[in-house]
Formats: sequence, structure tokens, C-alpha cells
Amino acid sequence: MIRSAVRKFRQLPQKLTGEVAAAASANKAAQLSWIEKLNEIEEFARKGGSEKAHKLHASRNKYFIEERVNALKDEDTEILEIGLLAGHDLDYGSIPRATLMTCIAWIQGIPVCIGGSDATVKGGTSYPITVQKANRLADIGLQNFLPSVNLVDSGGAFLPLQSEIFPDKNDGGRNFYNIANISSAGIPMISVVCGSCTAGGAYTPSMCDEMVFVDKMGTMFLGGPPLVEAATGEKVTAEELGGAMLHSSVSGCADYFARNEEESAAYVRSIFETLNIPEFATTRKAAIEPNVEFDILDVASTKSDARLTIACLNDGSVFHEFKELFGTGLVCGYARINGHMVGIVANNGNFNADAALKGAHFVHLASERRIPVVFLQNSLFHDDFDAASDDVASSAETMRARAAYISAVSTSKSPKVTIACAGSNRLSDLCPRQYDPNFFFRWPASMGLRSGNDWEDESFFSSARIWDDGTIDPRTTRDTLKKCLDIFEFGRNHELFIKSKELENYQPMYRL
Ligand code: COA
Repeated sequence: MIRSAVRKFRQLPQKLTGEVAAAASANKAAQLSWIEKLNEIEEFARKGGSEKAHKLHASRNKYFIEERVNALKDEDTEILEIGLLAGHDLDYGSIPRATLMTCIAWIQGIPVCIGGSDATVKGGTSYPITVQKANRLADIGLQNFLPSVNLVDSGGAFLPLQSEIFPDKNDGGRNFYNIANISSAGIPMISVVCGSCTAGGAYTPSMCDEMVFVDKMGTMFLGGPPLVEAATGEKVTAEELGGAMLHSSVSGCADYFARNEEESAAYVRSIFETLNIPEFATTRKAAIEPNVEFDILDVASTKSDARLTIACLNDGSVFHEFKELFGTGLVCGYARINGHMVGIVANNGNFNADAALKGAHFVHLASERRIPVVFLQNSLFHDDFDAASDDVASSAETMRARAAYISAVSTSKSPKVTIACAGSNRLSDLCPRQYDPNFFFRWPASMGLRSGNDWEDESFFSSARIWDDGTIDPRTTRDTLKKCLDIFEFGRNHELFIKSKELENYQPMYRL
């Protein structure tokens, strides 16, 4: 048999040339200054509350929130943090991590959504932004079929803003609805009570599949000791009213009595072994590092050829390009990232009718093959086109084609990740968060709301409000995508496994 010599997967450019090469070092310097600002905000978020609050926390033998996550996750694995910048510089103050760390960590090889309060920030109480953050994590869990762990250490609603939290105004209470639906979809959810868990907060662990309770640390009740005394005159300690021993031996709410944090982490890891989720077959190949001689910061957030950015992200920098000569304002094609097959759709010029139709075709194909799609969104290119498109006939054609593209993306069955690379704020963006990508990250120079207010034009403004899953250093994009693709592979297999057991649409868990 004679095989064609044509190589379908071809090497992308390895070097920068011409104007792009000339502009590289200035662009890199601009990117580094954005990254410096990003790092400052990240540091503020990770630091949490005051030194006094840290000392108090440590004096109670409690792990800090990152230590709690580290104790749960598999050694030598990295987490995917969601919404690290949430809560930064809001109208009501700067709330580190919005008092809640949310991430995906690997436990016994399974990607797991972990939500844990940072009790050093105002007792881990829930601000309006905290409610949104918790709900975003639940959406991720449900969309990606991920089990979850709640680490509860919170004083409940942040009372000065309670009117902004409760159901009529915000989504306070939505987490209970989410837990019920996650449970009825057959997706496991575990809670650890490792601190205060008062009033509405008490429902979260009570609705989960299994509950670990830490002695002399966790308490759970609808009204605390002061309320009991006011109502009945009875003096009672928090431990007597709703501590680990009470809930393990009298109320039956707790399933596992842990003597300390270490033991509670061991219980959770052990529970994950009992979930009976099999190891799934994989279509992954061996991962290969990108093969380029330049840095992603040399080309990030510019109008340079999108293939240069792609070359920094995919395995071996090789690409199977689709319709290369048609609709050149969009680059579409197949690649591997960390060994996973992936479709890539990237702005590369005018998003005109041809580009939109090509995108619709490609997204449809990826959906049929259940290949995850990465959208590299760069609407810097749109400005030229939209300003120039005053011809009615071509506008109408473009509108129809873009409508087809939007339909294809909105109904696609592929898991999707959007990376907002530059100028991302347009209704004609490739996959904005309104189309429910599974994950949506930004680069620091990706905004431009034209609000006339510099701060609102920054990506940090968006990430602080959970309009996205976080602003990331462009150099970490490949690592971020690797984790997303691992999550998608597990999620798809887990969904099929649950459906094979006919577990979906079961009634949610009813506890004692
Ligand atoms: N709303 C607003 N602020 C709260 C709060 C709440 N529900 N609960 C605690 N805080 C604040 C405290 O005022 C304190 O603020 P500061 O650091 O500026 O002084 C900080 O959080 C830490 O609280 P503190 O009581 O000093 O720390 P602690 O670790 O000993 O206790 C709690 C933490 C959460 C157990 C305790 O404060 C508590 O029981 N809070 C009330 C819980 C409650 O009834 N919630 C019902 C809400 S529906």
C-alpha cells in the first residue's frame, strides 16, 4: 500500500520573525508588569486574615485552609484553584479569597471539587461574593461529574450584609438546592465539620452523603449557646450542644468521629476508596513538551498569528489544521495537550462569514467526536472588522454565519475551556461564559470594557466578581489546560459509569 507523504499534523513555527520578533521584548515587558500586579493580588488572597486571627486559629490546633487541602490531596499532584481573586476590592471591602478556597484536587486519583472556608477571615463567614463562589464550584461539580468535599469552618452569613445574601436578593440557600441535585445525579459529596457550622450552615453537611466530624473543633447547631440561653435560660457549651461526640453518639448526624485534623483527612481519603469508582480506560498518549524557541509572553495578548500561541501550548507544537485556506480570521484544528486529543479554535483576524462558518463546522465535528475544545479568544481583531463592515449585504451574511457559529457552540456536547487572551468583552466572542464553557480563565491583559474607568478595564475586576474562574499568568496556561483535560476525561467516564448504574435521577440522599 502506498501511503501519502503529506503530514497531517505539522510543526508550527518554532521561531519569531519580522515585526513579531521585533515587538517581542516590549510585549514581554508589558506582560511581566501585568503579572507583577496579578502576583500582588494573589499574595493578598492567599495570606487570608489578620496575624491575630492566624495565631488564634493555630492555638486551636486547626490546620489552615491550604494545609487542609494539602492533607487531602494525593502527594505530588497540583490543584486547580478556582476564583483565587474573588472578593478583591469590592464595594464592601477586599475579602481575601472571598473567605472560601475553591479548587479541584486529586484524591485517590479522582479529581474532586473542594470548597473550604478560610476561618481566619471574619470567622469564615459568607459574604455575597462567597455565596456566588460556592455556587460556581457546585456548577463545576455538576457539569463535570466531579465528587466534592466541603470543609466547613464558618460563622454562617456575614450579618452586616445579610440582606444582600438571603434568597430574595442573592443566591443564598442555592447551595442546598445544588447539594440535593448533585446527590440525585449520583455524584458523591462528603463534608468535614472542622469548625463552626451554625444556622443555615448546618444544612450543608447534613445533606451530604457522608460526614466526618472533628472532635473539640467542629460544632453544628441551628442556634448557638447564647441563643439557647436567651430562649430557655439553660447554660450549655458549644461542644455539649453540637460537638463531635454529641453528633456521633446521640444525634447520629456524624458518620465518622475524627480525633484531630490528621485523622479527618485520613477518613476522607479512605472514603474515596470506598466510592467504588473504577479506573477508566484512557485515550491519552504520552505527553510531549512544546517545541518552540520563544516565550508565550513574547506574543501573548497581541494581534500576532494565533498559531504562535498555539505552538506554546500543545504537545510537540504540532497541529492538524482544519480548512487552513478558508475563513482565515479563525484558526481551527486538532492537537494534543498532555497527550489528550483536543480541538483548538482561535481568533486570528476578521471574524467574518467564512470564519464563522468554518468555526461552526469544526465545533460541530468536535462535538460529534466528544473532543474537548479550547477557545483562544482574542477580540482585538474584531475592532478592525466591525468598524469596516458598513456594507449591509456583507453584514447580513456575517450575522447569519455568526448565528450558525453561536448555535454550534451553544449546543456542542464537547467540554470547553475558554482562555480570554485579549480584548475579550464582545458579544461575538468565541465562547463567553454565557455559553457555559466548563472553565473560563483570563490572561491579565484580556479586558477592555471601554468604561472609561481604568480599574474596571482590568481582568482583575472581572475575576474579583467571579465573571470568570480566574486570571492566570499566561505561562501557566498549558498546565491549566492539562488539568482541565484530565478533569474532562474523568468527568465523561464518570458520567457514563453513573449512567450505566442507572443512578441518575435517583432520589437525593436522606440522612437520619
Ligand atoms: N457576621 C459578621 N461577622 C462575624 C460573624 C457573623 N456571623 N461571626 C463572626 N464574625 C466576625 C467577628 O466579629 C470577628 O471579627 P473581627 O476579626 O473584626 O474582630 C471575626 O469574625 C472572628 O470572630 P470571633 O468570634 O472573634 O472568632 P472565633 O474564632 O472565636 O469565633 C465564630 C468564630 C464564627 C465561631 C463565632 O464568631 C460565631 O459563633 N459567630 C456567630 C455565628 C452565627 O450565629 N451565625 C449565624 C449567621 S446566620
